[in-house]
Amino acid sequence: MRHFLSAADLTRDVALGLFALAADVKQRRKAGRLSAPLAGKTCALIFEKPSLRTRVTFEVGLIQLGGRAVHLVGREIGLGTRESVPDVARNLSLWVDGIMARVYSHSTITGLARHASVPVINGLSDREHPCQALADFFTLWERGVDVATVRIAWVGDGNNVCHSVMLLGALLGASIVVACPPGYEPDAGVVATARRLGGRIELTEDARAATTGADVIYTDVWTSMGQEAEHEQRLEAFSRYQVNDTLVGFAKPSALVMHCLPAHRGEEITDSVLDSKRSVVLEQSENRLHAQKAVMLHLLGGSLDDA
Ligand code: CP
Ligand code: NVA
Repeated sequence: MRHFLSAADLTRDVALGLFALAADVKQRRKAGRLSAPLAGKTCALIFEKPSLRTRVTFEVGLIQLGGRAVHLVGREIGLGTRESVPDVARNLSLWVDGIMARVYSHSTITGLARHASVPVINGLSDREHPCQALADFFTLWERGVDVATVRIAWVGDGNNVCHSVMLLGALLGASIVVACPPGYEPDAGVVATARRLGGRIELTEDARAATTGADVIYTDVWTSMGQEAEHEQRLEAFSRYQVNDTLVGFAKPSALVMHCLPAHRGEEITDSVLDSKRSVVLEQSENRLHAQKAVMLHLLGGSLDDA
């Protein structure tokens, strides 16, 4: 793997290797024994959209590994306007050891990767959020959930996070039921890729049927960044897809609730569910830090026993 643009860039073995590496990094960090394997290395972090988790976890992750971050706002560098995406990629490659980018169009991240001579990591595009899915499955794996048999109910929008969860779930063997209103299904090409990778993917309009017997219920905002003009229309379309106590009641008694955050409390999820004992959202958030450190070590090189 030279870049991490899609969850489908992983294989099952690479994903499991990254989970083990993330667990090792996390444990060493907590024990105060993390060396500086990325000492002298710098990554550019490009943001076309707002971020809390991605911004902080990449920057802090680099610091914890002994590296440094250069934070760039898409509008300020004029990505694709002041300067073409290929030219930005070629120039950044002269100065930094890796590029992480959060972009509107997935073609921007693939364009950066095509023309960069350093690894490129997708920090969210309109099509995928692979770092999120990696941290999510790491969270389940770390809790002892069998990621090869887990049944996940995705409730809500068939969006970027849903795509990456489907693809990584497919690689690992998970079964995923996506419940969404008509017109908001995941991309048919991504569903086909997930099935080709061996994924057991079902699509339904029935949130209750999807949730019944689920081990995990996962939801995300109904209005993603860049779709704000559709907010009212989406509120109406998704009104029967709220993850609330009634819906959670159909899942297994041991079921976990996941959300990538930020949450629009009272829309796709109620406070009572988000703040409940079943909710692992803060573990997901914490694990972004460790899963991404594993990705950076894998792509940029560097052993934990160095330094
Ligand atoms: N989950 C996630 O990527 O959060 P941010 O948008 O805050 O980075
Ligand atoms: N689907 C959301 C995820 C945010 C982390 C968005 O794209 O805005």
